[in-house]
Amino acid sequence: MSEGAVKKEEKPRKFQAIRGTRDVLPPETSLWNRVEQTAHEVFGTFGFAEIRLPIFEPTDLFARAVGADTDIVSKEMFSFTDPANVIKTLVQDALQAGLGVDMKNFEQAFQSSIEEKVQFISLRPEATASVCRAYIEHGMQQLPQPVKLYYMGPMFRRERPQKGRYRQFYQIGAEVLGGSDAPAIDAEVIEMVMTFFDRLELQGVQLSVNSIGCRDCRPKYVELLRAELLKVKDKLGPDSQRRIDTNPLRVLDSKVKEEQSIIEKLPRIGDHLCKECADHYAAVKRELDLRGVKYRENWRLVRGLDYYMRTTFEITAQGLGSQDAVCGGGRYDGLVELLAGPPTKGIGFAIGEDRLILSLQESGKAPVAQGRDVYIAWMGENARATGVRAAKTLRNAGFRVELPPVEQKFGKALGQADKLGAKYALILGDNEVTSGEWTLKTLADGTQRKVSEQQLIADLKKM
Ligand code: HAM
Repeated sequence: MSEGAVKKEEKPRKFQAIRGTRDVLPPETSLWNRVEQTAHEVFGTFGFAEIRLPIFEPTDLFARAVGADTDIVSKEMFSFTDPANVIKTLVQDALQAGLGVDMKNFEQAFQSSIEEKVQFISLRPEATASVCRAYIEHGMQQLPQPVKLYYMGPMFRRERPQKGRYRQFYQIGAEVLGGSDAPAIDAEVIEMVMTFFDRLELQGVQLSVNSIGCRDCRPKYVELLRAELLKVKDKLGPDSQRRIDTNPLRVLDSKVKEEQSIIEKLPRIGDHLCKECADHYAAVKRELDLRGVKYRENWRLVRGLDYYMRTTFEITAQGLGSQDAVCGGGRYDGLVELLAGPPTKGIGFAIGEDRLILSLQESGKAPVAQGRDVYIAWMGENARATGVRAAKTLRNAGFRVELPPVEQKFGKALGQADKLGAKYALILGDNEVTSGEWTLKTLADGTQRKVSEQQLIADLKKM
């Protein structure tokens, strides 16, 4: 029996979506489509074009870009290896070189080559690393700079699932790569996402901004922070204690209640920025004011990915509980270089689409199920052919049509039309077919009228 085949005597097993993944069902999917369509439109008006990226990439890409010590890379990635491919390649290489291949002792003989060539692959936990990889791979530095790209699709992180936090979740993101690091670029990227939220009428939107300095000033601040944290180490929980070593900035992210008063007394990065970073941050805020974008400053906003420098921002919205960050982003000059590309400026953001949808639903923006426009109730062989023709004409004119596949009594058909929320029933019996005068029933009030085949579309459009 082939692998994966089901033994006859086995009871069929009921399957469920894996923990942290879920199905998005209609009518909710129409809200997702509206959100995505709005993103295409709004981002387009800011000169962004869509990029479609692979769902999996070399593990090392994320380790390098996001940071090996981050929670995302160290704990949350879905990773696997692709040894079969390596073995195949090695066999082909050996055969091509005219060497005999002893399959029995193959693994032993080729152990070191397998280890060397085996691909470590991860489902993408985010897409900024992929966009930078693509920018380098396709020589996009030759294009007019900056290159403005956006993407949407699933991301994967092995987090503890809860409301607004999933293991497969969806992001809509945008990145500006190349050109200068002019503060107007930071402000315009933020303006774009705020315009998008505004267009969707997202409620309770709050933008927080910060600057986390650069390679010159941040390390000095981090050392100062570490020294101060060591003084209060005993009062901190285990996570924060560990982070004093691995990444002291992340302590500022802590939501642990008992740590809050301690954190508030720690030195603030804003007081330790170098002149260039301080000037850049001040200019970003001026540019935001110029665009009428309201923000509040949050010195503790450090973000959980290593690639950020200078501007960082986060946006929260209402109705989301503890997972209320609906968008996060920031500047990442140097990331392209870290991935063996040319020196390149970069800034971008990603919106959590699941959370965006949740917030829209909580504020009453949930779509209602869309019914059919026309239900075709037909009886008799002649009416079947007329029904098929009518359905085609109506659908070509853009109406949502339900044509029952088998004959039904008119009473049953009208009941079905009601259940499907149809606006009209087109009644086709022998009389209608011979006279050419069809019956159109408005289901809301039960009124009926006669329409001719030629007049059907025009009449429906008038109604
Ligand atoms: P991030 O803050 O890790 O940033 O994720 C961005 C957004 O994705 C979050 O604010 C949240 O709305 C959503 N999100 C993250 N994890 C989950 C989850 N497990 N379930 C549901 N939603 C989630 C990034 O990913 C960066 N790549 C953003 C960026 C682009 N920075 C510069 N360019």
